[in-house]
Amino acid sequence: MPAVVLASSDGGPQQFEGKITPYVVICGIIAATGGLMFGYDIGISGFWGVRSPEFDERAGIQFVNGSWDLNMLFAGGVTAMDDFLEKFFPDVYVKKHRAKENNYCKYDNQGLQLFTSSLYLAALVSSFFASKSCTKFGRRLTMQAASVFFLIGVVLDAAARDLAMLIVGRILLGMGVGFANQAVPLFLSEIAPVRIRGALNILFQLDVTIGILIANIVNYFASNLHPWGWRLSLGLAGVPATILCLGSFLITETPTSLIEREQTDAGLAMLKKIRGTEKVELEFQEIARACEMARQVKHPFRTVMKRHSRPQLVIAVLMQVFQQFTGINAIMFYSPVLFQTIGFKNDASLLSAVITGTVNTLSTVVSIVLVDRVGRRMLLLEACVQMLLSQALIGILLQVNLKSNNTLHQGVAVVVVVLVCLYVSSFAWSWGPLGWLIPSEIFPLETRTAGFAFAVSSNMLFTFLIAQAFLSMLCHMRAGIFFFFAAWIVVMGLFTIFLLPETKNVPIDEMVERVWKQHWYWKGYMNKEEAKEDKVDVI
Ligand code: BGC
Repeated sequence: MPAVVLASSDGGPQQFEGKITPYVVICGIIAATGGLMFGYDIGISGFWGVRSPEFDERAGIQFVNGSWDLNMLFAGGVTAMDDFLEKFFPDVYVKKHRAKENNYCKYDNQGLQLFTSSLYLAALVSSFFASKSCTKFGRRLTMQAASVFFLIGVVLDAAARDLAMLIVGRILLGMGVGFANQAVPLFLSEIAPVRIRGALNILFQLDVTIGILIANIVNYFASNLHPWGWRLSLGLAGVPATILCLGSFLITETPTSLIEREQTDAGLAMLKKIRGTEKVELEFQEIARACEMARQVKHPFRTVMKRHSRPQLVIAVLMQVFQQFTGINAIMFYSPVLFQTIGFKNDASLLSAVITGTVNTLSTVVSIVLVDRVGRRMLLLEACVQMLLSQALIGILLQVNLKSNNTLHQGVAVVVVVLVCLYVSSFAWSWGPLGWLIPSEIFPLETRTAGFAFAVSSNMLFTFLIAQAFLSMLCHMRAGIFFFFAAWIVVMGLFTIFLLPETKNVPIDEMVERVWKQHWYWKGYMNKEEAKEDKVDVI
C-alpha cells in the first residue's frame, strides 16, 4: 500500500507511512459495537420502534374537531407491548385500550416519557465524566466501563420488578451509552490511518443502524411472547455490550492516548503494530508534539470555552443539533402510519421498520465508501438538497391530500413512502454518520475529549427535546412539521457552505494549522498569542 503524501504543518510535504492492517480494521469493528448498544436502545425505546399489533389494525390519521386524531400513533418498541404497559404503566395501558375515543393531541404521560428520557438525560450528564475518563484512563478503559454500566442496566431492566428498578436500569444504560458514544468515535478517529479515517469512524454509525434494525425485528417477535416478551427485548441488549466488553480486551489503546498518558514506548510500539511498518517516525513525532501541547493544558473544559476553541466547539455542537433538526427521528415515528395507509393492513409497522431500517443501514455503507473520496462537505450538501426536496414534497402531498378528504389515497401514500426512503438514505450517508465523525476529528488533542463531550451531550439533549415536543408539534403543525424541518435543512446547508471546512485527508493532529488557520472566517479566532496566554493561565 503506498504511503500518503501530505503537507506538513509548516507547509512542506510530509509522508505518513502505513498500511491498512487487518489489526486496525479488527479493532475498528470491535469498538464500533458500542454503536450497536446505542442503536439497539433507539430501536427498543425510541421513535424507530415497532408499534403494537393493534396499531396495524386501527392506525390512521383523522382530522377531528380542528385537530389531528393520531389513532394509535403510540410509543414504539417495548412501550408498545401490553404486558410491559400493564406491569409498569397501568394508566397508560387503560388509556391505550380506549384509544378509539382518545385524542392523541391530548396525549400525555409523564411516567412513560420518563422511561424513555431517563436514558438520554443520564447519557447527557455521563458524557462529561466519560470525557475525563478518556483523558485519564484512556479510550479503551472508558469503552470497557461503558459495557459494564450497560450490562448492569440490562440485567436490572430485564429482571425489573417495579418502575424504580426499571428506571435505575435505564439510567445505567444511559451511562453506558454516554461512555460508549464518547469513547468509541474518538477511538476510531485516532487509530485510523488518515486516508480511511472517515470510513473507519462510520463503522460506529453503521452499528447504530444495525442495532436499530435488529431491535425492531426482535421486538416484533418478542411482542407475541406473553407475558415476558419485553424482558427478552430488553435483555438482548446485553449481547452487543458483552461483545464490546470481551472484545475490548483484544484491542489496542490508541497510540495517542498511550503517549498522552506518558507511556511513550508502548505508544510507539502500538503505532508500529497498527500501521504495519517500522517507519512511523513522522506520525509519532506529530502525536508526541500534540501530546506535549496537551500536557500544558490542565483544564480542558476551561480551555474549550476560550475564544480560540470556538470554531471547533461551535461546529461540534451544531453538527449534532442539526443532525436532530433534520427531523430524522420524528419522521421515523410517523412512518408506520404511511405504510399502514398504503394498505399493509397487518404488520405495517414491522414493514415500515424493516424497509426504512434497511435503507438506513445500506446507505450508511455508501457513506463508508465515499466519505474519504468525495469528502465530508460534498456528502452533507448533496444530502441537504435531497432531504429538502423529499421533506417539502411530503409536506405538500400530505397538506393537499389530508385537507381535502382526511384520507391519503393509496397511490399518494406509495409516493410518500418512496420519498421517506429517499430522505432516510440521504440522512444515512450524511448528517447521521458525519454528526459523529466531524466532532471527533476537528479538535486538537488538548481539547479533544472535552469538546467531543459537548457533541455527545448535544445529541442526547436534542434527541430528548424533539422526543418531548414531537407529538404536540405534529398535533399543532400537522403537515407543517415537514416544512419546519425543511427550513432547518436550508439553515444547515448554508452553514455547510460557509462555515464548515473540509477535513478529508487532513491528519487529526494537524487540523489547527491546516484547517482552522486557513479558513476565511474561523482563522480570526486562531490568535496565537491568546492561545499561548490560555496555556500559561491554566498551568
Ligand atoms: C442519531 C439518531 C438516529 C440514528 C438513525 C444516529 O446517528 O444520533 O438520533 O436515530 O442515527 O440511524
